[in-house]
Formats: sequence, C-alpha cells, structure tokens
Amino acid sequence: MKDIVILGIETSCDETSIAIVKNGKEVFTNIINSQIEIHKVYGGVVPEIASRSHISVISQVLEEALKEAEMGLTAIDAVAVTYGPGLVGALLVGINFAKALAFSINRPLIAVNHIEGHISANYIAHKTLEPPFITLVVSGGHTHLVLLKDYGSYEVIGMTRDDAAGEAFDKVARSIGLGYPGGPLIDQISRQGNKEAIQFPRVTLEKDSLDFSFSGLKSSVLNYQNNLKMKNGAINVADVAASFQEAVVDVLVSKTLDAAKRFGIKTVAMAGGVASNTRLRELMGEKCQKNDIRFLYPPGILCTDNGAMIACAGYYKFLKSEFADYSLNAEPNLRFEHFAGGHQ
Ligand code: KG4
Ligand code: ZN
Repeated sequence: MKDIVILGIETSCDETSIAIVKNGKEVFTNIINSQIEIHKVYGGVVPEIASRSHISVISQVLEEALKEAEMGLTAIDAVAVTYGPGLVGALLVGINFAKALAFSINRPLIAVNHIEGHISANYIAHKTLEPPFITLVVSGGHTHLVLLKDYGSYEVIGMTRDDAAGEAFDKVARSIGLGYPGGPLIDQISRQGNKEAIQFPRVTLEKDSLDFSFSGLKSSVLNYQNNLKMKNGAINVADVAASFQEAVVDVLVSKTLDAAKRFGIKTVAMAGGVASNTRLRELMGEKCQKNDIRFLYPPGILCTDNGAMIACAGYYKFLKSEFADYSLNAEPNLRFEHFAGGHQ
C-alpha cells in the first residue's frame, strides 16, 4: 500500500503545533511552539492572547516543520486539524490555516477531535498497540475513560462530572502558592512530601460508577488551608501537594482497573498532559502488573498537546475517506461520545 503522509495542526489551547507523520506512526517532525511563558504571568491561559499568539507564529511553525522533515508541501497527502473541544478563537486559527493550506495544495481536509488525538498518541509511541484497549484520558480540560473497540470506534465508559484532573492540579497548585501550570509543579514538589500526611477524600460516586468528581477534593484542600490559617499554622506545601496528588491518582487508578476488569480488557493506556504524572505512572504500573494487564503511555512530548497525535488520528480517518469540507467550523464544546458515536 502507498505510504500516507499527513500534516497535523493543533491550536486548541496554548500550543501551536504542526507535525508531519507517515502512516500514522512515523513522525518526521513535530514542532511545538508553547505559549506557557506568555500566560504564566496571568496564572492561566488567556484566550484572546492565545489566539493572537497562534496567528503570529503558525506560518513560522509550518516552515520549521517542512524544513525539519526535509519535505515540500507536495509530499503531503492530507491536512488534519483539531476542530474541538478547545478555545474557540484558538481553534479557528488552526482551522482557517488548515483550510487555506489544504486548498492551496489541493489535498483533503480532515477534522480531528482533540481527545481522539490524545488517545492516538499511543499508536505512535507503541507500534504494536491495537484495539481493543482502555484509555484513561487525563488533561487540563478532560477526564475520560474510553473503551477503544476498534480504530475510530469508541465508547466513553466514564467521565468527570465537574473538574478535569489537570484542572484540579492547576487550581490546587495556585491555592498553595505554586505557579502555572500546576500539574508538573505538584508532581515535582510531591517527591519531597509525605503522601500520607493528610487524608483527603477519595470521591468514588455511586457503586459501579466509572465517573469521576474532583471538585470536592479541591474544596477539601482549600478548607484544610483555611483551617490552618485560622489557627495561625503554616501549611507544609510538599505534604499538601503529595497528599492531594495521591488522592487524585488513587481514584484514577482504581476506576481504570475496575473498567479493565469489567470489560475484560488486558491493555490499559493513558493519554493527555496528566499522563506525564510520575506518581500516576508508578501506581498504575504497579496495579496493572499485579493484575496481568499491559500498561502503556506516550512519552511526555506526546502527552501534552501536539500536532503528531492529530496527524495520527487523521490517518485513520484518511483510510476511511472521512474528509471535512470548507464549511468546517470550530466546536469549542465538542463532545467526545457524540463525535465517536459509540456512547449509547
Ligand atoms: O493535554 P494538555 O497539554 O492540554 C489539555 O488538553 O488540557 O494537558 C495540560 C494539563 C495541565 O492541567 C497540566 O497541569 C497537566 O496537564 N499536567 C500535569 C503534569 N504535566 C502536565 N499534571 C500532573 N502531573 C504532571 N506531571
Ligand atoms: Zn490536550
């Protein structure tokens, strides 16, 4: 079969990324221009600034990608782009750029759901991975347990009812005086803390539910701090961080293992920014090993937002001729289960 080369564009939040990937697995280039430094001073992503920043760098990112891949645009078979969920202005920059590019080189346009992109990063990192498997998608905006029945066929079997895991990390980090983004900082400082110091609640919801809820945990951390403040006590930041992290990780791991058992699945993968978390990787690894389950996650660079994961997801759509037309619009609240058509 002829090799298929997809150019993937990702601009849903604060990374402008363009990648070129062959056959959904071989990454020729994956240029990521992160805006973290720009947003840091505001303590979070400022949507308007994100859109402007995408506009100002995206052409340059394309140029860099082509240069690194040592390719001309004629080598590209299709242009894949994230169309949701994400920040509307940020998404529109990528979508319009993708449309113009696809039109100018007369190649098809492919619309990719950002969450499907995150999951697909595992196909790049693990060449032998094939459905069925379960993926825990944990990022700044999403916490989903997804059963991958086949390429492009999904069932969302659990999701957060309030905050996403990464959002909880970021909010708690801010409240204990760490910077932005909070996830990596909590991960880091937790190594010096005692994870058993404070017993924060593990919210598991109804019996048998595979859904998550993290807003109560976030409030518990705030209450803990306020109580100490009233008593004029100082918090031990490393202990709070480690105990909070343990509570999140505990619930994520136990629900993922429950899901694998319930559906009789022997492979578990992780995706999204929080999948870089050291303690999550460690505990999930231990529990999977005990239960004879294969456990996979992408390297850090493919966990956070990147164009390669979009190109990979785009490849499987290309094979099914699932193309978008020029009426493609940003869908900031795009729901995964609707997109996938797998949720009953
Ligand atoms: O997937 P991603 O880059 O963007 C979204 O689609 O949201 O994920 C970013 C999220 C942020 O909330 C960040 O704090 C979190 O991933 N994150 C981490 C770690 N690295 C990134 N959370 C916990 N531990 C980490 N090591
Ligand atoms: Zn993401």
